[in-house]
Formats: sequence, structure tokens, C-alpha cells
Amino acid sequence: MSDTSRLMTDEALQRCSSCTDCSLAETRQTVVIARGNTEAPLMVIGEAPGAREDATGQPFVGRSGLALDRLLKEVGFDLERDVYICNAVKCRPPKNRRPKRSELAACRPWLDLQLDLVNPEVIVLAGATAVEAILQIKGGMSQLRGRWQSWNQRAVMPVFHPSYLLRNPSSDPGAPLDLTRADFSAVRRRLCER
Ligand code: URA
Ligand code: SF4
Repeated sequence: MSDTSRLMTDEALQRCSSCTDCSLAETRQTVVIARGNTEAPLMVIGEAPGAREDATGQPFVGRSGLALDRLLKEVGFDLERDVYICNAVKCRPPKNRRPKRSELAACRPWLDLQLDLVNPEVIVLAGATAVEAILQIKGGMSQLRGRWQSWNQRAVMPVFHPSYLLRNPSSDPGAPLDLTRADFSAVRRRLCER
């Protein structure tokens, strides 16, 4: 993308902070857009902001976020340089319910702008909502995780959502945490081999 169109995309994305395109706007405190580097090779997409994110305006800053950051660091990513982190919807759903299909659809143009801006080589989809938002498939994460998919010429890796790992903290071989470490390692290897 040229510098001019990058700037225009970035400006368009700024307007997300005052978006009222779906009813989540009525209950949110803050629109949570992203953290990390807009020029990163890796984009991580989660579900939606939680309470902490809604209060701070930053994605993945609660317990799930700590778990995500730990995994990314463990496999060797520099969080400031290598990763751009965002969500399928930018406003917190009341009581942290799952976003509705209509909300995912309403918020999709913002996600598309983010994809244009960052142009990531690899996308990690954290949890079933992100998988549904991007790949438009529904399914159990146990089946979907760890298998490379291709979407718009990008490599896509579905992984368990970090909140699932918090509910299943066993670090035994073959447990969700162990499998997710392997998935993030595969992502890291792919980006190191290019
Ligand atoms: N869970 C998500 O999916 N995203 C966040 O930003 C925080 C928790
Ligand atoms: Fe707009 Fe997305 Fe927030 Fe809905 S969730 S108000 S579409 S930014």
C-alpha cells in the first residue's frame, strides 16, 4: 500500500472511536481498536473487549491478555514490533455475552480496514468467534485449532481462545495449553522461515 493510502486507511480507522453502527455503542465505555504495531507481520484477532478493555480502550489487557502475551513472548515474538492485536467486534457486549451475528457484520468494515492497514502475512484467530468472523465457518475449536487455513492469500491459524486456557490450566502434554504453545510455535516458525 502506498503511504498516501496507508494514511487514508489510518484516518478512516480513527473514526471507529465514535462508531454507533450497532447497539453495542449504547452500553460501551470505550471503543477498543487495537494495540501493537500497524506494520507487524502477525495479526491476532480475538472476540470482543471485556470489562478491563472497555475501561482502558486497549484490547487483551485483562487476564486473557496476560495469557496471550505470555504465549507470544514464549515463542519469541516482540510484542511491540511483531504483533498487532485486535478483536472481531470493537465494543464490549453487555455481561460479556458472545457478539451476535448482526454485530459481527456491523463491525466487519472496521476489521477490514485493519486488515488493509496492517496487511499481515499471518493471522491468528483466537477462539470460535474470530474463526466465524473471518473464515465464516462454525465448528469446535478442538477440530479447527492447529490447522493452517488460507484466506485471501494469507495464512491463518485458528487457536483456542486464551480465556479457554485460563479455564483449563493444566500444562500436561496434549492439554489445551500445550497444544496452543505448539500452534504459536508453528506461527513463529512460519514467520521466521520467510
Ligand atoms: N477477550 C477477547 O476476545 N478480547 C479482548 O480484548 C479481551 C478478552
Ligand atoms: Fe461500531 Fe463495532 Fe462498536 Fe458496533 S461494535 S458500535 S459496529 S465499533
